[in-house]
Amino acid sequence: LGIFTYDPGFTSTCSTKSAITYIDGDEGVLLYRGYPVDQLAEHSSFIEVCYLVLHGELPKKDQLEAFEGSIRRHTMINEGVKRFFDGFYYDAHPMAMLTGVVGALSAFYHDTTNNKDPKHREIFAHRMIAKIPTIAAAAYKKFYGQPFMHPQNNLDYCSNLLQMMFAVPAEPYHVDPVAARALDVLFILHADHEQNASTSTVRMAGSTGCNPYAAISSGIAALWGPLHGGANEAVLNMLDEIGDAKHVPEFMNKVKNKVEGVRLMGFGHRVYKNFDPRAKIIREQCHKVLKHLGKENDPKMELALKLEEIALSDDYFKQRKLYPNVDFYSGIIYEALGIPVNMFTPMFAVARTVGWCAHWMEMTADSSTRIARPRQVYTGAPVRNYVPCDQR
Ligand code: CMC
Repeated sequence: LGIFTYDPGFTSTCSTKSAITYIDGDEGVLLYRGYPVDQLAEHSSFIEVCYLVLHGELPKKDQLEAFEGSIRRHTMINEGVKRFFDGFYYDAHPMAMLTGVVGALSAFYHDTTNNKDPKHREIFAHRMIAKIPTIAAAAYKKFYGQPFMHPQNNLDYCSNLLQMMFAVPAEPYHVDPVAARALDVLFILHADHEQNASTSTVRMAGSTGCNPYAAISSGIAALWGPLHGGANEAVLNMLDEIGDAKHVPEFMNKVKNKVEGVRLMGFGHRVYKNFDPRAKIIREQCHKVLKHLGKENDPKMELALKLEEIALSDDYFKQRKLYPNVDFYSGIIYEALGIPVNMFTPMFAVARTVGWCAHWMEMTADSSTRIARPRQVYTGAPVRNYVPCDQR
């Protein structure tokens, strides 16, 4: 290997320096800009956390107002962007639509191709954070064949998203504040997570100097996978498949014997080897939302609790340090709020957009950034001479 280190999956490679998010996987600590995520989830709002993640400090009142005002001003999408949705089949996965439409934003905003100007970088982040709920909601409406709902900028960030998804033109729609706050807390918990696969993808694409909307689109594509953000959808599908608590032992045997690669989705994490602090908060939030909606005896919640209880006392999971992660309970909240399973990962994408933007801004502002270019261990044929087709 010479001077190179073979590190598949980057288990021991630091690809960058970053001042945004800190994780201590053994202690279950997650800090955004030094602030514990549990304190932010309890006291802050998603929009304030966006400012913190982007700018490094909690905003003063006037800074928060100006930031929130800018986000509200950028929620609309160009009519041309809207027409992209007409080109998709009705049953396109919303993540497929998100990947395509966000990538297409690069064709609409040429000013941000000047990545070196801090003002341009900031306006890109504001546009992205403001427009991603509008695009996610439009993907939902396309899937359900309902008319697209415009953003209502008198609403807060999450209420506006719920409105764009669930309102229809003919009827008044009132956002449930408990639902909006539950979404806000989920979004705070998903806002950033240092060099996870999608963020690393954004950084890798961005390191080439490409258009930032295209870099975010590549992050959305990486997030979609079931080992990453797609796990929230996979958890609900798994719970549906198991169906009843009586089938749990049979399912667990499959997992432990690795039958057809079956995994307990929503369990395990590359970094957290003790517990995922986000999962703990989400579990509490789950109980709160289900109680508010009168769904305390939700069968999926009961099944998830049963699975967690069995897994946490099982040697297979103990030996491998596998604990519930952020995706184990988030889907149950989404489902209780009426969000369909195929929209779970888009919800994650909406929340993670600020993290992607912050990492792209940090990387682009750093003059020491070099193009990301890993090496490989070549395992192919040694050098050989070309043989004409009729002699092979
Ligand atoms: N169920 C059963 N076995 C598991 C699981 C699981 N969920 N996760 C890991 N293992 C086993 C794995 O088979 C391996 O066993 P062995 O040592 O016998 O080969 C061992 O634990 C180590 O697993 P790994 O795949 O080498 O660990 P990793 O750090 O490469 O992968 C992970 C981390 C999150 C991809 C993995 O734990 C997993 O696939 N979990 C299920 C999917 C999931 O919930 N993903 C969401 C992650 S958190 C949110 C996010 O990133 O977006």
